[in-house]
Amino acid sequence: MSNVVTLERLETVGIIKIDSPPVNALSTAVRKGILECTKQAIADPQIKAIVLTCAGRTFIAGADITEFGKPAQEPGLDKVLQEIENSPKPVVAAIHGTALGGGLEVALACHYRVAVKDAKLGLPEVKLGLLPGAGGTQRLPRAVGPELAVKMIVGGDPINADAALQAGLIEEIVDGPAAGAQIFANKVLAENRPLRKLRDDDSKLAAARADRSIFTNAVAALTKRARGLEAPFAAADAISYTLDLPFDEGLRKEHETFLQLLAGEQSIAQRYAFFAEREAAKLAGVPAGTKPRTIERVAIIGGGTMGGGIAMSFVNAGIPVTLIETGEEQLTRGLGVMRKNYDASAARGGIPADAPAKRMALVNGVVGIENVKDTDLIIEAVFETMTIKKSIFGLIDTYAKPGAVLATNTSFLDINEIAEVTKRPQDVLGMHFFSPANVMKLCEIVRADKTAPDVLSTAVAVARKIAKIPVVVGVCDGFVGNRMLMARTKQAEKLLFEGALPQQVDAVITKFGLPMGPFAMGDLAGLDIGWRSRKDRGIKSEIEDALCEAGRFGQKTGQGYYKYEGGSRAPLPDPDVEKLIDATLLRLGRKRRVVTDEEILERVTYSMINEGARILEEGIAARPSDIDIVWLYGYGWPIYRGGPMHYADQVGLRHVADRLSYYAAETNDPSLEPAPALKRLAQQGGTFAGSR
Ligand code: CAA
Repeated sequence: MSNVVTLERLETVGIIKIDSPPVNALSTAVRKGILECTKQAIADPQIKAIVLTCAGRTFIAGADITEFGKPAQEPGLDKVLQEIENSPKPVVAAIHGTALGGGLEVALACHYRVAVKDAKLGLPEVKLGLLPGAGGTQRLPRAVGPELAVKMIVGGDPINADAALQAGLIEEIVDGPAAGAQIFANKVLAENRPLRKLRDDDSKLAAARADRSIFTNAVAALTKRARGLEAPFAAADAISYTLDLPFDEGLRKEHETFLQLLAGEQSIAQRYAFFAEREAAKLAGVPAGTKPRTIERVAIIGGGTMGGGIAMSFVNAGIPVTLIETGEEQLTRGLGVMRKNYDASAARGGIPADAPAKRMALVNGVVGIENVKDTDLIIEAVFETMTIKKSIFGLIDTYAKPGAVLATNTSFLDINEIAEVTKRPQDVLGMHFFSPANVMKLCEIVRADKTAPDVLSTAVAVARKIAKIPVVVGVCDGFVGNRMLMARTKQAEKLLFEGALPQQVDAVITKFGLPMGPFAMGDLAGLDIGWRSRKDRGIKSEIEDALCEAGRFGQKTGQGYYKYEGGSRAPLPDPDVEKLIDATLLRLGRKRRVVTDEEILERVTYSMINEGARILEEGIAARPSDIDIVWLYGYGWPIYRGGPMHYADQVGLRHVADRLSYYAAETNDPSLEPAPALKRLAQQGGTFAGSR
């Protein structure tokens, strides 16, 4: 028998225990072990009921994702589930931690399920570009009804034990999983309860079979945000089989779709992103066992949009914040915006009605930097001007207690220069949040030359604590995200000089899957900021300058690259902008040519990839997958395309390099010459993923 799954008899109950750290995933050994132990328990005349339980921190967290894409090994999960479901002896799943994906499917094949109070149950396969492949779409609607099943399968979010009990997904909430399940199993035996096989129980399907809108409305509510994704729609179709087809037919069709999705590009990208996210948390160059410093109170300097959003992220995680402003007026305004945001979330039902007051009670708004003195982490979030940042860090150095971590939220500036104004550069680093900071998940953790390892691991740990996804990057202009964004913006603007219109460029980008194109993004951020800064530096950007000179600053003035009508944020193409572009090109003696969508897509995405290759070569990012995480969680790169570097690997680096060389020559732009690292990999027929 396999040693990851064991069978033990406690009086008349056979306890099958899975012990396969870290998360008891259904590897071949685990599937084999469950199958063998179930057969053995069925054959043992002294065993009258069976409990399926797990050691360690969690019940089965799903199929073993590392086995996906490799040749399938026997026994398949379907065989294991058949054995459990057809057992003549009652089988009880004892759930703790998370019963996810294939794990919940195992539990659904059991006749009964019990769970501890803090357990979570879910079918998150859509998040990996899949649907449940072992009967989840057929059994869950029979357990909880199609409406909740749609929420759990198409939405992919788990439910807690209380909700599971209420929905009939579990029979009882127990204190200890194995012991509780054993007591429950004895009760089943004593009461001689019939075996409950979900496959045979259509009672919860009756309402939706009579009124299909129950199902279609639930699907419509969840798929409206699933633009571009295949899996949520495939999952909804599979759930609909429960309304139209016999169980076995539904099961067969579900599995067929699962295999199709598994082999598809979207799932490959989404599985890649799952592991990339976990890789990003592993710190290169930090000695093992480095202990993060304790962070109990955080100071945030600057209560503007960014500072307020960062403060909310900490408060949401229960960490008290000292919010520091320069005057009472600014402070009142900053606190007011935070309160308004919380009230709006409460009104939408996103947080409980009493949460705004409770969360604001964790914020101590004060005037004066001397108030950093009792805090363990200080995050500066003021204007993006080196002289201001330096003077603030000088003051922080005067007042902060020894050992406090000093972070700047700068998005471009040289953090080494900022660190040098303090007497403790080892405590200084960047924590670069993305706007809106209370919503966006990315936090670039910028390691400066002298940042101490424990300071770095503190920033990473604290970012995770506030539910951000930290990625460690090095110091350079714009770090990883904004540096690549600048390369993209440069191409987008050049395309206007060659004949494209803002709406054409943006449409190509949104069709590719990003939430917004570069010009709509510029309008949102405000074009005047860049214009003023260009004027200071004596730099020109003819078209954007002309827009600003015409008072078109973007959304805030109701017109920029687009026009915005009646206070709406929806960008509308504006013939006046086309005229303005034509006039600018005429003035510069340039002619518009036809620019194809293909050229737009290649130039904006390949220029980013090229910059990514430079970033890797310079060691600014430790891994290509770190760059992908930055773009997935900081800029809305579509998850089903895995991030720019993964996308480049899929397209083929030789093609990317060839096209870049072509555009470099055609448009006389040396920045498009393939970076040495990209060129090398392309020549070797390699990939970014394989280069590490
Ligand atoms: N397969 C293989 N490895 C897995 C895994 C899985 N299903 N789930 C987690 N792991 C690994 C992680 O990669 C990580 O490994 P490293 O330590 O080497 O990086 C380790 O387990 C711990 O994972 P986390 O860092 O994520 O730990 P956590 O405590 O923060 O979260 C979790 C635990 C909630 C289970 C989370 O890991 C998770 O959500 N896992 C994926 C669950 C999932 O999607 N299941 C469905 C799989 S698809 C399926 O089941 C299809 C089917 O129908 C048959």
